[in-house]
Amino acid sequence: MSVSDVTSVVTRPLGPFAAFDGREALLRRGEEALARRDYASAVHLLGLAGGHLAAPHDRTARLMNRAVRELVPRWHFSMLNDDARNTAYRRAIEAVVRPGDLVLDIGTGAGLLSLFAARAGARVVTCEVEPLVAAVAEQVVADNGLSDRISVVNARSTDLRVGVELPDRADVLVTEIFDCGLLGEHVLPVLAHARRELLRPDSRLVPGSARLWAQLVDSEQIWARNSVTEVAGFDLSAFAQLRSLEYFSTYVHQYEHTPLTDPFPVLDVDFSTRPGPAEVHLEVPVTAGGRAHAVVMWFELALSPGVTLCNDVAENPQSHWRQAVQTFDRPLECAAGGTVPLLAVHDGERVLVRPQQPAGGPATR
Ligand SMILES: C[S@@+](CC[C@H](N)C(=O)[O-])C[C@H]1O[C@@H](n2cnc3c(N)ncnc32)[C@H](O)[C@@H]1O
Repeated sequence: MSVSDVTSVVTRPLGPFAAFDGREALLRRGEEALARRDYASAVHLLGLAGGHLAAPHDRTARLMNRAVRELVPRWHFSMLNDDARNTAYRRAIEAVVRPGDLVLDIGTGAGLLSLFAARAGARVVTCEVEPLVAAVAEQVVADNGLSDRISVVNARSTDLRVGVELPDRADVLVTEIFDCGLLGEHVLPVLAHARRELLRPDSRLVPGSARLWAQLVDSEQIWARNSVTEVAGFDLSAFAQLRSLEYFSTYVHQYEHTPLTDPFPVLDVDFSTRPGPAEVHLEVPVTAGGRAHAVVMWFELALSPGVTLCNDVAENPQSHWRQAVQTFDRPLECAAGGTVPLLAVHDGERVLVRPQQPAGGPATR
């Protein structure tokens, strides 16, 4: 689909901006919207200024694309080309969905999971919070001749109503709103709402459950992704105050690293029930001595019986999710044969792993 197709979809209806008829005025107002980071208005204004009809190198088209890029993250493309992810979801949906089911797909994206469900014989309602993405997904569904089976709703799932956008409580829920560390795209509150308001009590869920795994690693290279000390004789350590306290996404295999523990589970989630405790104390055996600079985390989704999907560096190193890496403030000294006491906490959104140690004392015992 071309830029002009996309933007002609999103500039309909014209709404309040129809009042601006001068191209220069629209262009100027579009630039102003960009400058104040109001990207949705920028897309409208620059579309009306002709950005969607212009050649890709025209200034209006480029400005408009700048707004589109802010609204639609690039990871959509690597995600859509992640074969391991797509194949696992396809197999699970084919195993779980029965002809005639009403399927709710939360988080449409390009509509791929809805297309799988419709091909398995379901009627599908899918919701997408980002208007630009929802509009293009509708086009994808039409391009594949499935508009009579898939209804794309431009809404956050928590705004859906049974009997309005969703004809009935759904028989099956499919969703892929997972970040590299599992919870970061708000899957827990979204599914709590869906169970309460949108699903039948006996609904089948894809995925049904998930586990978050972790492993301590010795890696100065990974630690250097999120900290700084001395450079060319200058002390830059004050800048490390700006480091990320939480995990970030990175390809662990690109960095020299030594695992100091076996993988250990930090969180189990059954998506059909309320989540378990938000705080877990762990005593993790050290398998190789070293300095733990970071904890690497990845998830394992149980999509359907026998179909799992994970972003583990050992099993799926090319995963578009990469791994979730959280560096420690100071490396933890780990003695082989000892254990490391850790606390894993989550606030429903992010898991944080903290060493538990007496102030100034050794991490291992
Ligand atoms: C990771 S993408 C997955 C897209 C598609 N389901 C797939 O698997 O190819 C998630 C999409 O869901 C949307 N989204 C996330 N949470 C949502 C919610 N609660 N309601 C509606 N859309 C949501 C995001 O804007 C994003 O486009």
